[in-house]
Formats: sequence, C-alpha cells, structure tokens
Amino acid sequence: MGISSVGVVGAGQMGSGIAQVAAVAGLDVVLQDISSDGLSKAKARIEQSLVKLSEKGKLSPADVNAAKGRITTTQHLDDVARAGLVIEAASENPQLKFEIFRKLDGLCGEGTILATNTSSISITTIAAQTKRPEKVVGMHFMNPVPLMKLVEVIRGLRTSDETFRAVKALGEKMEKTCVESKDYPGFVVNRILMPMINEACYALFEGLASVEDIDNAMKLGTNQPMGPLTLADFIGLDTCLAILNVMHEGLGDPKYRPCPLLKQYVSAGLLGKKTGQGFYKYGA
Ligand code: CAA
Repeated sequence: MGISSVGVVGAGQMGSGIAQVAAVAGLDVVLQDISSDGLSKAKARIEQSLVKLSEKGKLSPADVNAAKGRITTTQHLDDVARAGLVIEAASENPQLKFEIFRKLDGLCGEGTILATNTSSISITTIAAQTKRPEKVVGMHFMNPVPLMKLVEVIRGLRTSDETFRAVKALGEKMEKTCVESKDYPGFVVNRILMPMINEACYALFEGLASVEDIDNAMKLGTNQPMGPLTLADFIGLDTCLAILNVMHEGLGDPKYRPCPLLKQYVSAGLLGKKTGQGFYKYGA
C-alpha cells in the first residue's frame, strides 16, 4: 500500500506549496510550523493559489474544497508523527534541520520515511542524525511548487531502494516529474542554475551590461521565463549565496566562488523580492 498521509514541517513558501500539491493529490496533510502567524499566512497563500488554479480551470471548485479539507495545521511537531512520510521544509539552516530530524526520528513510527526539501545541505549528513538513514531521502521541490513540474529525488549514501521508489511514486502522484540525483552539492538543478546566476552577477559587477539588459538578453535570447537576475531576486539573494557557498566549499573548485557583488547585496540586506529590493525594487 502506498503512502496516504504526509506531514510537512515548515509552513513558508515551500512548505505551504508542498502541502497544497499533496492535498490536491488526495493525501491527508498535517502542516506544522512553530509560528501561528506563519500557519495563518500559509493557509491564506494556499487558498489564493487554489482559487487561481480554479479560475484557470485547472481545478474544479469541488477539488479546491476537497484539497482544503485535507489540510490540518498545527504548531506541535508530534502531530506529524503518524504520517507515512514527513517532508521537512524548514529554513536552510543545517543545525535547525539536524535538530528537526533528531526529533522526528524519536517521534515517528519506524516505518515513516523522512524527506528533506533542502536545496543544498547533504542528505547523507541529515540522515546521519537519525537511526533510520535508509529511510531518509531528499525531495527537492521548485518554487513556486504548485506550478513547477519538477522534483529532484536525492539518494543519500544510505537511502534504500525501497525508500527511493516510494518517494518517487509519491512525487508522481503529486503530478511532478521526478529526476534522480546523487548527493553532491547543488544536486542537478542548482549545480547548473547557480553558476548561471553567479555569472549574471559577475556580468553586472564588471559593467558588461545593465540589470535589465542582462535579463532581457537571457530571457529573449534563450527563452527563459525570467532573466537570471529576476530569478535570483525571486529565489532570494541570501539563498543563492548560501547555495553557492556550499558548492564552492563542497566541490572545491574556484569556478563556484560567489560574485563579490552578490555578497554585498546580501550584506546590505537587499535579499530580493522578499525584502522589497534586490537587483530590482518591488512594490508592497
Ligand atoms: N499558484 C497558482 N498560480 C500562480 C502561482 C501559484 N503559486 N504563482 C503564480 N501564479 C500565477 C500568476 O498569478 C499568474 O496568473 P495570471 O496569468 O492569471 O496573471 C500566472 O501564474 C503567471 O504568473 P506571472 O504572470 O506572475 O508570471 P510568469 O508568466 O512569468 O509565471 C512563473 C510565473 C511560473 C514563476 C515563471 O516566471 C517561471 O517559471 N519562472 C521561473 C521559476 C523558476 O525557475 N523556479 C525555480 C527556481 S530554482 C528553485 O526553486 C530551487 C532552488 O533550490 C533555489
């Protein structure tokens, strides 16, 4: 029998998107966050996204109501313990993720699979925090989760074939295409995407072209939905920098060194769309 219930830890942009697609796929979802404000914002975000998808004819009003009815929210981590799979989508802080995995390992039944949505932290190291490393796996969704078709399924060194197959089947049930990646810094998407974003930062830093021209060149010249600097703002410049640092350190190749301009933006608190300013300025 496949997995029928999912716990999601962390109700930010990614966690709420994951909870939404799981509920739309017919799974019972417990969405957990320590912040009640975070949970309220997640519910509003999910509602808004479901309504948008229904307006576009991608979901019927009945599907929307059914999906909403499958999601319960909680501030207590032990409420996710009975799920067949728990997907951790907390912020990208290794110590925080290690702590969550140690707690989940103690709370969840021995059959529960523990997945992490990390974009850069080693799955093998996260798995080593638990007594079930064969049941720990990476499940890396893309932002915005309800629209993006991809999930990277990452095998830690000790992830079992059974765990991998169960998580891949679940990703497909959520109507995602799954690609398999080994556990190396950046996995597949960020290994290729982040050097492009970093190069766009260098192009700007060296005065090759303006922000708008760099983005237009890549958007219109290579048919990307967003130019690389817009995309960096969308992802968060702090997140881009953190991923580049992990790749630079983990792969040991100077070609991944983060652009000084990117570091400066982050030091200045200009983190992109979420702070109202990055390479571009955003309205309220
Ligand atoms: N749910 C439902 N609908 C949504 C939505 C959501 N979460 N987010 C946006 N939409 C809707 C918008 O409301 C809009 O609807 P209308 O057409 O009715 O106005 C529609 O989608 C299109 O959106 P926009 O007009 O704002 O812009 P767009 O056409 O450029 O599409 C986009 C938006 C899908 C985000 C597109 O720009 C895109 O694909 N961008 C690239 C995103 C990307 O590369 N993501 C991966 C980042 S890497 C990552 O996530 C991994 C990591 O580790 C960093």
